[in-house]
Amino acid sequence: MSNRYNLLSPEARNDPYPIYAEMRRSAPVCQIEPGGMWAVSRYDDVAAVLSDSAVFSSAGLREATRPSWLEHNPVADSLALLDPPAHTALRAVVNKAFSSRVVPRVEPLVRAAARRFADSIVTGRPVEVQEHFSTELPGVAIAELLGLEPSLRRLFASWSEALFMIHPATPPEHHAHIRAAIADIEAYLRDVVADRRRRRRDDLVSDLLDAEVDGERLSEAELISFLAIVLQGGHDTTASLLASSLRCLAGRPDLLAHLRAEPTAIRSFVEEILRFDPPLQASTRLAVADTELSGVPLPRGSIAVALIGSANRDERRINDPDRIDLNRKRNAGLTFGAGAHFCVGAALSLAEGRLGLEELLPRIQGLRIGERGFAWSASLFSRNQAFLWMEFERA
Ligand code: HEM
Repeated sequence: MSNRYNLLSPEARNDPYPIYAEMRRSAPVCQIEPGGMWAVSRYDDVAAVLSDSAVFSSAGLREATRPSWLEHNPVADSLALLDPPAHTALRAVVNKAFSSRVVPRVEPLVRAAARRFADSIVTGRPVEVQEHFSTELPGVAIAELLGLEPSLRRLFASWSEALFMIHPATPPEHHAHIRAAIADIEAYLRDVVADRRRRRRDDLVSDLLDAEVDGERLSEAELISFLAIVLQGGHDTTASLLASSLRCLAGRPDLLAHLRAEPTAIRSFVEEILRFDPPLQASTRLAVADTELSGVPLPRGSIAVALIGSANRDERRINDPDRIDLNRKRNAGLTFGAGAHFCVGAALSLAEGRLGLEELLPRIQGLRIGERGFAWSASLFSRNQAFLWMEFERA
């Protein structure tokens, strides 16, 4: 039997942080299960893997996201799997549309939705918060951002889940479902784009159609791929942020009381919980040259797993990292990545976390994990929950 660390073991799923600490101490670059990928656990090394695209390529992983059972995957064709300079040109166009207008544009609707969902879960009865709160809020935000039909938000969340299930070892029983989801996603998004071509609206799709940098605009395929990755990236991650916040507060009545007394601290809490328990625990790259990290040789052709969850707890960089500290410098950690691929939706998800908690916390004076408990998501690097039962005590 292999004595490699296994990130899918029940212990690692439940609490990966002691395992990461041991890796940082004694095996900062090592092969892990599943698949013999190379995990990188120290902050500086994780930042290097995420940002040094000359050695650690995103484009090199394109084939892995397009396994033979899948003829086509819009995410594989997106900017997330490009290296500079191709990435630079595309990202410049996207940045132009994904401007500082994004948060103010969706904020009123997201706040109103947060209020509605908060009312619906604070009933005195046990409630499954993933379905009724944590996944609902990002669904509203993404639908509003892209100008999609809001009543279909659960369908969009299920598409996001299907896209997250694609990896080289996806079990065959899921293949047909994923292929059908991709066909549905593309058909739906093509209709949306065609509609905005005829008639622009005040939404991101319209802005993306018009965005132009140095005479370059997005092609139809680039636009559909980008919209697909926003659908994928915008749901699970933000749902995880909300679920982690609630799990944390269930064990910290003192912190709940502090945030209720001082709502302006909610912003710092959201940033700190994102550092402490990041929704995306890791991202991968292909090493396209022989290299070395923390003195350990990493051969060309290795898949490097940049452990964001570990970097964010690295005592070399972060003082007392296992403690939730609302007075930390802002944006400690690598939760949203580093370098060229830094998350497009960072400001939006911070706003969603803040709005969700600003509406929920005044309504409750206590919360605990319900008897039916919770289960971790099945997807490899996600810290999200498949379900999370909670009980709220009304204020
Ligand atoms: C708490 C929520 C979120 C977290 C933790 C998160 C995390 C990340 C990380 C770590 C990356 C970089 C991955 C890499 O370098 O390999 C990334 C990229 C990306 N994220 Fe997010 N994300 C979040 C929310 C969102 C939202 C709400 C959207 C869309 C509205 C979004 C869209 C994207 C896109 C399009 C990229 C690819 C950027 C590129 O390759 O240039 N994310 N995200």
